[in-house]
Amino acid sequence: MTARLQPGDAARLMGRLEELAEFTAVPGQLTRLYLSPEHRRAADRVAEWMREAGMAVRLDPVATVVGRYEGAQPGARTLLIGSHIDTVRNAGKYDGNLGVLLGISLVEVLNRAGVRLPFAIEVVAFGDEEGVRWPGTLRGSAAIAGTLTANQLDVRDADGIGVREALHAFGCDPDDFPSAAMLPEALLGFLEVHIEQGPVLEARGLPVGIVTAIAAANRYAATITGMAGHAGTVPMGLRQDALAAAAECVLAVERICAAGSDMVGTVGRIEALPGAVNVIPGEVRFSLDLRAPAPETRDAAWAEIEAAWTATAGRRGVRLAVERTHSHPGCACSPWLMQAMEGAVRRAGIQPFRLPSGAGHDAMSFAGVTGAAMLFVRCKGGISHNPAESITMEDAEAALRVMLDLVQSLPPVPPA
Ligand code: GLV
Ligand code: MN
Ligand code: MN
Repeated sequence: MTARLQPGDAARLMGRLEELAEFTAVPGQLTRLYLSPEHRRAADRVAEWMREAGMAVRLDPVATVVGRYEGAQPGARTLLIGSHIDTVRNAGKYDGNLGVLLGISLVEVLNRAGVRLPFAIEVVAFGDEEGVRWPGTLRGSAAIAGTLTANQLDVRDADGIGVREALHAFGCDPDDFPSAAMLPEALLGFLEVHIEQGPVLEARGLPVGIVTAIAAANRYAATITGMAGHAGTVPMGLRQDALAAAAECVLAVERICAAGSDMVGTVGRIEALPGAVNVIPGEVRFSLDLRAPAPETRDAAWAEIEAAWTATAGRRGVRLAVERTHSHPGCACSPWLMQAMEGAVRRAGIQPFRLPSGAGHDAMSFAGVTGAAMLFVRCKGGISHNPAESITMEDAEAALRVMLDLVQSLPPVPPA
């Protein structure tokens, strides 16, 4: 028996995406950070949808919602399907959420047709992909991949709240995080559907694309300490203005990254203290996000940036402290899963097209643990991390069709 889409399946998925976007910290825009009250409400709604779709639901120790749809036989491997339900500030509705809710729709369709596969499916709704609230990121997927370390829970947010404390308040037991890990030999693979967040599929006129690899990324937290002083009395030549120094550092990032063709660098957050109109800034904290297809390119750019920053600090007589808060070498997607996905794309009447991902994804966490593959969905204008993020119902349906066919064509164990 084969499970097939029915009219209304894609509309239900799009309706749930709208509903999930209502769980936000800021009315009128979508902001849902890891372990916030709105994350809790979104997780509860996701759990309800999972139950209605025929899954047994659990919340793991780092707040990932896991919905399990048993396979035809006990003891079979598990195919993980999912993405994240945390968002950036003032986000779009589809980044992450599409991959979770599409996974639920997929199981709903299988369950409706009474189809059990030769493996179990676990739909996973991770909560920490954006890394906006705490230094570091990907705690949910790393816990399941078995690579989360205790020190990744020992960090504090801007209000001084630790990850452990927030997990307790969420109803989780952070000390139990090792129990979330799944053994590689118990897994069939990890599949993630995600909006492209770039313009390539739209330019090619394609609804979906197959991801080949995910870029390497590093993140840093920098602090420049100068000397606060009176804006009216300290002559320009005698200042140690931390913000003027930081401005030079930001421009160095832009210059160095623009000089390489496949390097990107972003200072997305900056804070000047004490933050008053008539005070010379004495301290500035800012973030840096650096990415490149290869870790060597990223590391070479960082070496140049660090040298430029150090020179700026020396010349301006300010102190520079930099901490690396995240590092991932990037990863290649699984050849056998990409090939299987390509077959499903072709059978849906779509020209298979492969493309790399510049954005980070939970799929990265499974590198070296189990095969991971990603299906990108075209998004309007390539716009993402922006409320203008948009996809069509037709493209969501195409992705659901491809994934439904794909899971029904996979073997019970990965090929040798
Ligand atoms: C996640 O959206 C990232 O790539 O930063
Ligand atoms: Mn995402
Ligand atoms: Mn994102």
